[in-house]
Amino acid sequence: PNPSLLILPGDGIGPEVMAEVRKIIDWFGANQGLKFDVSEDLVGGAAYDVHGVPLADETMAKAQEVDAVLLGAVGGPKYDNLDFSLKPERGLLRLRKEMDLFSNLRPAQCFDALADFSSLKKDVVAGLDIMIVRELTSGVYFGEPRGIFEEGNERVGINTQRYTESEIERAARSAFELAMRRNKKLCSMEKANVMESGVLWREVVTRVGKEYPEVELSHMYADNGAMQLVRAPKQFDVIVTDNLFGDILSDCAAMLTGSLGMLPSASLGAPMANGRPKALYEPVHGSAPDIAGQGKANPIACILSFAMALRYSFDQGAEADRLEAAVEKVLADGVRTADLLGEEGVTPVSTTQMGDAVVAALDAS
Ligand code: NAI
Ligand code: MG
Repeated sequence: PNPSLLILPGDGIGPEVMAEVRKIIDWFGANQGLKFDVSEDLVGGAAYDVHGVPLADETMAKAQEVDAVLLGAVGGPKYDNLDFSLKPERGLLRLRKEMDLFSNLRPAQCFDALADFSSLKKDVVAGLDIMIVRELTSGVYFGEPRGIFEEGNERVGINTQRYTESEIERAARSAFELAMRRNKKLCSMEKANVMESGVLWREVVTRVGKEYPEVELSHMYADNGAMQLVRAPKQFDVIVTDNLFGDILSDCAAMLTGSLGMLPSASLGAPMANGRPKALYEPVHGSAPDIAGQGKANPIACILSFAMALRYSFDQGAEADRLEAAVEKVLADGVRTADLLGEEGVTPVSTTQMGDAVVAALDAS
């Protein structure tokens, strides 16, 4: 049987960028014999409009069965006043939680043609290709006790940073596996100098590392890590860190490379019966209501998310490389959506034109 893919376009620019990914998927089917059983369903506000909930049970069940889920974006002003449990974002959170996607992969890759775009000097970022692995299901965002409590005559806000050994271990393992597929270099970031969870984190990562003697493992305090990411990001290959530090460090790394419209991500869970990890692929950006419906959205983040699916769910590393090279060529040719406009006198292309340009580059590959 063909590998299965569930597509959830979502809201705002989600359906616009996903339409371009559909062209790419069709291209691989027609030209490389790489056929997928694709189904499409609703998530976020789009699901709320039809089902009254941001993710229907049937959609959740489908997501658990397929080999990979590809999501556009959720949210929009229309839904801002909904009850917390009905907000579009809850649809995405439900997917992450019930699929138990504990390992969030955020690449920061700088395409040469966009090196001028970075917040940093060109030579600091040109050729940059690093990957941040963020633990996604535990840590301070979930730890108990949490809440705002009365204490004496004032209130106190409490969150708890909490990691079990097995939670650290599975995140570490996914980072080591990734390092093995890349350049066998892994840097673990925590604050073992001031946090107990950081002490345990370092100990467990070191222990898991014994199983991967080929991987060069280093440890860094996360605050120094933030400095090093901005000072000399090319010293890193794979970085593994907890949920909170990962949130901040991956956003920081993202800005090394330019626009939000360029950034893909993958969230992986435990292996399924067929050996593939549970997986959700999505661009980092949101539904961009300010440009939705105008044909301005950059589809590359979503296209590169599909490239990650090819690599991490479908064992098609060479085809993922082919797709990334096609994106690189289009950028080198000067094709730009409005978010990528730096140079004077360049006319932006539409979402559709950008998708077509990538398909044309695939044709030429
Ligand atoms: P956003 O990522 O939607 O937009 C931020 C800025 O970046 C906007 O100016 C937007 O036009 C621009 N932008 C984003 N993606 C782009 C693309 N592909 N091409 C060109 N420009 C792009 O974040 P914002 O504005 O904070 O949130 C808007 C809505 O999206 C909210 O409802 C929010 O909750 C939701 N959201 C959803 C996420 C998801 O589905 N994973 C993630 C972040 C926000
Ligand atoms: Mg963030």
